[in-house]
Amino acid sequence: MSDDTSIRLLGISGSPRKKSTDYIVNEALRYAHEKYGAEIEYFSASGKNMKFCIHCDYCVRKKEGCIHKDDLVELYDKMLWADAWIIGTPVYQGTLSAQTKTIIDRCRAVVARDPKAFMNKVGAATAVGGDRIGGQEPAIQAIINFYVISEMIPVGGGSFGSNLGGTFWSKDKGAEGVAEDSEGIRSLHRTINKLMKTAITMKNIR
Ligand SMILES: Cc1cc2nc3c(=O)[nH]c(=O)nc-3n(C[C@H](O)[C@H](O)[C@H](O)COP(=O)(O)O)c2cc1C
Repeated sequence: MSDDTSIRLLGISGSPRKKSTDYIVNEALRYAHEKYGAEIEYFSASGKNMKFCIHCDYCVRKKEGCIHKDDLVELYDKMLWADAWIIGTPVYQGTLSAQTKTIIDRCRAVVARDPKAFMNKVGAATAVGGDRIGGQEPAIQAIINFYVISEMIPVGGGSFGSNLGGTFWSKDKGAEGVAEDSEGIRSLHRTINKLMKTAITMKNIR
């Protein structure tokens, strides 16, 4: 479906691999497309050239975007296009991956050009750890903090099973591990339900 009423949903995987995080973000997009007719776009950090923010303040002085012209330029366009985002991260050392952090740090350049660039877009997060309780919630919390700072509307999936977002235990078995995690899939679907319903409400208000 592609019309004025459909929600544009962007999925971002902040894993350097196309394994468990890639699987769950694509599952979120598939679910949103099939259940809600969402228009979907995907960006994976895997294989991408992404430079760190170096705090040169080029973006603040020039208001022309980031000084780095790397593979994140394509992502900036998708971020602006979308009504709603889901960012997925693998858990590294109890929090989000460096790739996910680089993506959100580099968004400073977009907001420096237009402070309202992301305002009222709806954001959700999902995280996958090799351990059952390995830092999924701190990883999700870091992404939610970014949404708040960007004046977006953060959502989780609600109490009794989803809480802050989609939480997965891969047992370090990649896509196969998360596909077997039925509680994780349930938490993700509930998060997408909330994300889509909130995005539809916001679109109706506009
Ligand atoms: C550098 C590094 C640090 C990690 N730290 C954690 C951790 O703190 N907690 C955890 O549960 N898993 C940790 N893991 C395991 C990954 O989160 C897990 O294998 C995840 O499924 C990888 O996602 P991917 O398949 O999308 O790459 C770590 C993996 C790496 C490479």
